[in-house]
Amino acid sequence: MSIVAVVGATGGVGRHVTRLAAAAGHDVRALARNPVRVERNPGVSPIACDVRSREDVQNAVGDVDIVLSCLGNDRGRALVTQAGTQNLLAAARQAQRLVAISSLGVGDSLSQARRLSWLYGYLVIPTVLRRPLRDLGRMEEVMRFHSLPTVILRPVGLTNGPLTGLASGVDSTDTVSLMVSRADVAMVMVSLIDNDHWDDQVKTVGVPA
Ligand SMILES: NC(=O)c1ccc[n+]([C@@H]2O[C@H](COP(=O)([O-])OP(=O)(O)OC[C@H]3O[C@@H](n4cnc5c(N)ncnc54)[C@H](OP(=O)(O)O)[C@@H]3O)[C@@H](O)[C@H]2O)c1
Repeated sequence: MSIVAVVGATGGVGRHVTRLAAAAGHDVRALARNPVRVERNPGVSPIACDVRSREDVQNAVGDVDIVLSCLGNDRGRALVTQAGTQNLLAAARQAQRLVAISSLGVGDSLSQARRLSWLYGYLVIPTVLRRPLRDLGRMEEVMRFHSLPTVILRPVGLTNGPLTGLASGVDSTDTVSLMVSRADVAMVMVSLIDNDHWDDQVKTVGVPA
């Protein structure tokens, strides 16, 4: 069993990742700005960590086996995904890999987004999502050029629907559903804890068509 750091453990995807990783028997460190908000669960240790603080990050992930980052940018506030991931990569010296959530529409998945939804691809991404997606793009660059193996997961639109187990990682040329549940994305992420088959790859996460 592995020591797993879940970053953004209070978030929509992060809550599911924390729960599923603990249920699989891993020793889970649930990193949160406010650890009181972490769901109590056997096998889960809440840790106070603001990813913008190098000291917090060092204390939280210096000795973990794997980092699963479900960080999200606060709407209208400072962007954290690039800077936070940079701190995580620098501190996770013993980790086998870092897996992070990006988004459909970043990098070469923009054309996939446009094929799936004209509205999302041509209207929403260049306007409402421009700033956070640009930061996720920078996060991806930081991950790609780091020596630690990384996996970039780009989910399609997220819902609070149930866990179905139907989601998977596909290539940016494949056709997938437009929406996927946060629980299903979490399951894909947790499946990578003991699995190196996607190391240094980028996957769109949705339900394959
Ligand atoms: N919404 C969609 O349809 C969609 C589609 C594709 C991809 N995505 C991406 O999926 C990711 C996860 O989505 P989600 O719904 O789970 O997001 P979320 O609920 O907003 O969760 C984001 C998490 O990041 C944490 N966080 C933010 N700033 C932090 C900091 N400085 N230090 C430590 N933790 C910090 C938040 O902590 P607090 O609880 O303290 O705020 C929260 O736990 C996001 O990156 C989003 O861009 C979303």
